[in-house]
Amino acid sequence: SLPFLQPTPQGSPPQFSDSALIFKSNIEQIYGDYPSYDLCPMAEGALDDIASGTMFIGLQRYFDDNGSPYKLCFGPKSFLVISDPVQAKHILKENNDKYDKGLLAEILEPIMGKGLIPADPETWKVRRKQIVPGFHKAWLNHMVGLFGYCNVPLIKSLSAAAESNTEIDMEEKFCSVALDIIGKSVFNYDFGSVTTESPVIKAVYSALLEAEHRSMTPAPYWDIPLANQVVPRLRKFNSDLKILDDVLTDLINLAKGSRQVEDIAELEARNYAEVKDPSLLRFLVDMRGADIDNKQLRDDLMTMLIAGHETTAAVLTWGLFELTRNPEMMAKVTAEIDEVVGDRMPTMEDCMKMKFLRLVIAEILRMYPEPPLLIRRCRTDDVLPRGREGNVEGARVKRGMDFFLSVYNIHRSPDFWEEPDKFDPERFTRPFQNPKVEGWAGFDPKKWEGRLYPTETAADFAYLPFGGGSRKCVGDEFAYLESCVTLAMVLRRFEFDFPERLGKGEVGYDEHPKNLSHPVGMRTGATIHTRQGLKMNVRKRAGVEGVVVDQGGGIEVKG
Ligand code: HEM
Repeated sequence: SLPFLQPTPQGSPPQFSDSALIFKSNIEQIYGDYPSYDLCPMAEGALDDIASGTMFIGLQRYFDDNGSPYKLCFGPKSFLVISDPVQAKHILKENNDKYDKGLLAEILEPIMGKGLIPADPETWKVRRKQIVPGFHKAWLNHMVGLFGYCNVPLIKSLSAAAESNTEIDMEEKFCSVALDIIGKSVFNYDFGSVTTESPVIKAVYSALLEAEHRSMTPAPYWDIPLANQVVPRLRKFNSDLKILDDVLTDLINLAKGSRQVEDIAELEARNYAEVKDPSLLRFLVDMRGADIDNKQLRDDLMTMLIAGHETTAAVLTWGLFELTRNPEMMAKVTAEIDEVVGDRMPTMEDCMKMKFLRLVIAEILRMYPEPPLLIRRCRTDDVLPRGREGNVEGARVKRGMDFFLSVYNIHRSPDFWEEPDKFDPERFTRPFQNPKVEGWAGFDPKKWEGRLYPTETAADFAYLPFGGGSRKCVGDEFAYLESCVTLAMVLRRFEFDFPERLGKGEVGYDEHPKNLSHPVGMRTGATIHTRQGLKMNVRKRAGVEGVVVDQGGGIEVKG
């Protein structure tokens, strides 16, 4: 009775029209009259797992019961959930050309267009080659200074909160500073969001919220004809998107109008201290000039605005949260910051010297991966390698099948990490192996010596904070340095504590060493958020003046 099934001779499996291919694997799994090709155990998804906003926690429970891979079905929708480094490497690296972004691309296309994250493999190939050189070493070096500069309003605002004893939502503050940083660095736009609110800032958050809402909504109602004119939520979203589009179009036209033709070697060698507009947009326009399509540039900028903002904000938020819960780690990290940076603005060399701070960030990215799930769709039939001991051998996956690759499960599994729920930054200095996981080389700290952070290669794909393979994050080092600078500047000058709110019944109740509870808790959208903000009390650190001095003589802030 399903419209896309073709009539078939009695007793043989149904045939599917091409347009139905995407649904084919799902039908085989759910309407179980025909043999399921993939042989994977099936978890019936509870709607609570989506509704409560912590789907990745539900997926962890099913992983404990079923191993990797397992199928997860929500009504007519189903996914194959992968929680294994060997299978992750197969999909992300070794057979990357057999997979695309599938559902994620469908969800994000109205917002990011053909930007790098949702881009189909053909568009992606061209764009990635043009964007990656933008993140060259001299630019990153210069960006470290810009990160410090963008933190000055945050330092001022925390000073004011400390003086007036005002409780402060640090998640919100970190979101603002990350937005200011991405605006300045990617398209030379001053959001000023730590200190102001504007329609453009509201439009950014509206686009982010919509992207998150869509990724959690099983039925794409926004595709229904006329929905964009009729549904108030969509009308509001579209008008916000227009505000953002207008800003981006103006910036693109401005950059194109003042293009200085240079070749890539000249661009990479230029002295950034003398460059008026060091943004990535400027680089892309100077390199490619008038032949870049405005729409493609708009899509790339929008993608970076969204991809590079909340992710870093989440790292900072959970970093402060874990360090506050673990005072001995906080003492260690602040001692390092005091010794290496003091009251200066941090430099690239400082970031390299602060190894403990970098380990803390690595550990936060392990415990709170952003995003906790990667999404893929199979473009052609494939056979997965065997997962951890006890799971199916050689699962056959069909073209059109949707995948959730649970980075959260991999990062929190005792198969791949010792005491995975413990905040232990120094784990990345110790090797870890598990002979029970066939084909997995384990974690080798020597393999990330000299690098900014422990890479996916050092952990043979059991550590994937920035993904892996050819679609790995382009902003990894940028984000890592941004996190180093922001934490160094904030933790040098301020001490934090959770407000004393007792009450085990509170949403997100969690123990902390002083036996106080605090309403934090986890909630997912595209990244892992707190449930109700990271509300903190802030004090100035004794004996630290809170002075920020830029070595170039530019900025000075008296705390
Ligand atoms: C891709 C994480 C910051 C731009 C990705 C992916 C992950 C990730 C996991 C791979 C997605 C997939 O395979 O489906 C993070 C985290 C960040 C961060 C945890 C911060 C801590 C940034 C920043 C930028 C950025 C700052 C830009 C300035 C991108 C882009 C892609 C990407 C453009 C798509 C790459 C491609 O498909 O070629 N990111 N990201 N990210 N990220 Fe990031």
